[in-house]
Amino acid sequence: MARGELQPADRDELSAFIEQHWHSPVIMSRGRSFYPHDEEGFIERRDGQIVGLLTYHVENQEMEILTLNATLEGKGIGSALMLATIEKARSLGCQKIWLTTTNDRLKPIGFYQRIGFRMTSINLGVVDEARKIKPQIPEFGERGVRIQDEIVMELHIKPYIDEAK
Ligand SMILES: CC(C)(COP(=O)(O)OP(=O)(O)OC[C@H]1O[C@@H](n2cnc3c(N)ncnc32)[C@H](O)[C@@H]1OP(=O)(O)O)[C@@H](O)C(=O)NCCC(=O)NCCS
Repeated sequence: MARGELQPADRDELSAFIEQHWHSPVIMSRGRSFYPHDEEGFIERRDGQIVGLLTYHVENQEMEILTLNATLEGKGIGSALMLATIEKARSLGCQKIWLTTTNDRLKPIGFYQRIGFRMTSINLGVVDEARKIKPQIPEFGERGVRIQDEIVMELHIKPYIDEAK
């Protein structure tokens, strides 16, 4: 098992992994396009294979999580990648981590809430609009739920200085 920050040698494999899991190398969030394979992140491998990947983008001292996938679910991989990322955000001086997900992703929404994320807004119909630009976005997701809305989730991070108090 090896977990760590993305290295240049990982990059070649990333776009195939992203495309396999997200139907395209491009991720759309709040109407903006990102290429996660060019961004920073954390990766976990077992026997050389990628079993977990988290990518993020930092701007204005806020970290946006772009993608999170664990190919072996329920084994703590997603949690470990998230915890490493939260520590990274703190070390970069970010006070907020946020992400967008979609209304069908009931399990990840629960997973994020367990970590401490709150749902801060719901952008109705945004996925329907994104699908016009990126037709690969499926119409139905988990348990046949129609994918229509974008949910914004946020985690506020206490800076290191608070720990000394
Ligand atoms: C969401 C996702 C990243 C979670 O990753 P994961 O590795 O399965 O997550 P973990 O194993 O750390 O935690 C999942 C659950 O298993 C439990 N768990 C943690 N360690 C465990 C272990 N060793 N054995 C069994 N269960 C465990 C956790 O309590 C957690 O429960 P919760 O969902 O009720 O909070 C993963 O399910 C995934 O890739 N989903 C598909 C892609 C996706 O939807 N990504 C999010 C986009 S917004």
